[in-house]
Amino acid sequence: MTKEYKIAVIPGDGTGPEVIAEGIKALDAVSGRFGFRLAYENYSLGGEHYKKTGELLNDTVLESLSRSDAIYLGAIGHPDVKPGILEKGILLKLRFHFDQYINLRPVRLYDGVETPLKNKGPEHINFTVIRENTEGLYTGAGGFLKKGTSDEVAIQESINTRKGVERCIRYAFEYCRKRNREKKLTLCGKTNVLTYAFDLWERTFRDVSKEYPDIKTDYANVDAICMWMVKNPEWFDVIVTDNMFGDIISDLAAMIQGGMGIAAGGNINPLGISMFEPIGGSAPKYTGMQVINPIAAILAAHVMLETIGEEKAALLIENAVKKVLRDDLKDVAAGKMGYTTSEVGDLVKKYIVDSEL
Ligand code: IPM
Ligand code: MN
Repeated sequence: MTKEYKIAVIPGDGTGPEVIAEGIKALDAVSGRFGFRLAYENYSLGGEHYKKTGELLNDTVLESLSRSDAIYLGAIGHPDVKPGILEKGILLKLRFHFDQYINLRPVRLYDGVETPLKNKGPEHINFTVIRENTEGLYTGAGGFLKKGTSDEVAIQESINTRKGVERCIRYAFEYCRKRNREKKLTLCGKTNVLTYAFDLWERTFRDVSKEYPDIKTDYANVDAICMWMVKNPEWFDVIVTDNMFGDIISDLAAMIQGGMGIAAGGNINPLGISMFEPIGGSAPKYTGMQVINPIAAILAAHVMLETIGEEKAALLIENAVKKVLRDDLKDVAAGKMGYTTSEVGDLVKKYIVDSEL
């Protein structure tokens, strides 16, 4: 019997639907060649839907999503919705509900893509950021005292549990071993100031490392990581860090790999339902113009296939993307590609269909 995966698709807002359409083109091309089937179910979640219905993400939708094998997300964001509402009400809610405790961000400079770093090329920029995705400063713990008065206090607490830290670090060691490149895992923290949270991280890192004698370990403070990512990105193989630091360093990493047209990631629950997305956002002013680079969304589909265990199919998508970046696109930035969004998707599809297995 043909293997079938149920993919919940959330095209979302702005240019989300345009880029997701190109990702689906690639997915369909590749599934055909490897003999599995993808059954898509569309969900109209996002800022636009919220404006129309007042609904963010209800239990019925969560229940329905829980019957899928993976979630493929375009972008959520709306210029008329106050910051925080969609993020908390949809994106973070999905991450927490499905316990997607890993945020995986492969960072790779492909041939033909320009990096803002002087004298650095594809041989220097090839690492992965593994960010804890359900704890730290993101849990919403904290509150106000005397709000609105001159004595106001605002507290935002970073929650770090042994269990949460350990499962993230363990995932990072496993990932590093499987990636099998430099076999080096760097813990990114701030042990010189955050002497409780990162003490726990460091001890846990040391404990878990004993089970992975084949993996070299390293430590750097987050501020130093930011310097080195610009100066010596070749030092990194896999970086593991907490939620907030991971959020920040993965955007820095996205820029050195060519920016929002390229960067993709996964919100992963290794035993549950994971969610994959281009990290670029909804880019409302470009909506419907067919100028956004869909490569990030196509690479999100690549990470999705890799994660659900269709590694060969994933590789075929990545190889097709590499070829488009190397041979076709003039630039990766919106409007400068020399092709429309859907033409880029067509090129990727063509290379998938034409390639030898
Ligand atoms: C990301 C985003 C989200 C985050 C926002 C939109 C809530 O920046 O996926 O990195 O901070 O995690
Ligand atoms: Mn972010």
